[in-house]
Amino acid sequence: MLTLGIETSCDETAVALVDADGTILSDVVHSQVQSHARYGGVVPELASRDHLQNIVPVYRSALERAGKRLEDVGGIAVTCSPGLSGALLVGVQMARGLGWASRLPLVGVDHLVGHLLAVFLRAPGQPPVELEFPFLALLVSGGHTALYRVEGRDLAQISELGATRDDAAGEAFDKVAKLIGLGYPGGPIIDRLAREGDASTIPLAMPMRRQASLEFSFSGLKTNVARWVEANGPLADDQRLRDLCASFQHNVVESLLSRTFRAVRREGLRTLVLAGGVAANRGLRQRAAAYAERHGVRVVVPPPAHCTDNAAMIALAGSHRLARGEDQSGQLEISPHTALMRVTRKGAGPR
Ligand code: KG4
Ligand code: ZN
Repeated sequence: MLTLGIETSCDETAVALVDADGTILSDVVHSQVQSHARYGGVVPELASRDHLQNIVPVYRSALERAGKRLEDVGGIAVTCSPGLSGALLVGVQMARGLGWASRLPLVGVDHLVGHLLAVFLRAPGQPPVELEFPFLALLVSGGHTALYRVEGRDLAQISELGATRDDAAGEAFDKVAKLIGLGYPGGPIIDRLAREGDASTIPLAMPMRRQASLEFSFSGLKTNVARWVEANGPLADDQRLRDLCASFQHNVVESLLSRTFRAVRREGLRTLVLAGGVAANRGLRQRAAAYAERHGVRVVVPPPAHCTDNAAMIALAGSHRLARGEDQSGQLEISPHTALMRVTRKGAGPR
């Protein structure tokens, strides 16, 4: 059965066609980066309008690239949480319209579950990804940073072990990039500059060094960078900028991996999956491989295009539910919050 996936939770308008075995027939992603770049972050109202303008062309192009028609599709999976309400609504309304017009079953998918299962996606002709449950997953994106024990593909089989108390890792990359005058999104830019820098020349505070928990915190590190810039004057496009990027990235990566491998040991798991946009980070991928070798753990990291937002992961996360006859047509609601159970209290807000 072919699943049509739709993703509009943040600043990517994406539609994909994925086979029951996770093979991607098409995966079209329209990025809104250009619209938001000059504001240094995602502007919700702009995001909704941009999704409205692009959802139909992106949908058409996904069918065209796969060489398929809507009649070939067996069901629709659409992101319904978490995300920007106006943005989520565009995708969900599109899915409702298509489902109603063609009498296709429809399921809502949690974006985070999509990221966690993206590891099972594969290109046509590629063998299936050999990965058994349970595994530990580190999900690091622009909006979320958390560790999960993943027992299976269903929501109830995924449990959070710890998450960030404040900023997400991607958010920290983006905010620090803005602070030091780099573009948006900051993650890929800092990643590139960090490669030419020496982390040891600018020591920054290691987040929550003395805590033995599975929680993260990045806002202190961000303040530390701001203080360093205040004390050391404006940065030019020089070696100091690269050293600062290297030091910041080093601390984020070490903070993520020390807790991740603490969780691996605590849970007695042998496999680690990296997921989310920040999993595209070269430093994180390299250090994760080194940690894994030391701990005798297997690390599986999807290719960068499957780590950042896409609709193929949403189609995949919905396909097994559609295959067993689930249909939420007429009762699909959107929510800005994840449907996954949370254990970490973020800031002073509600759980
Ligand atoms: O998963 P994603 O595409 O969207 C969300 O669900 O948030 O993640 C986007 C985040 C952004 O904060 C971006 O700066 C970060 O992922 N990112 C990176 C890299 N590529 C994307 N962060 C560090 N290094 C990268 N190479
Ligand atoms: Zn995402």
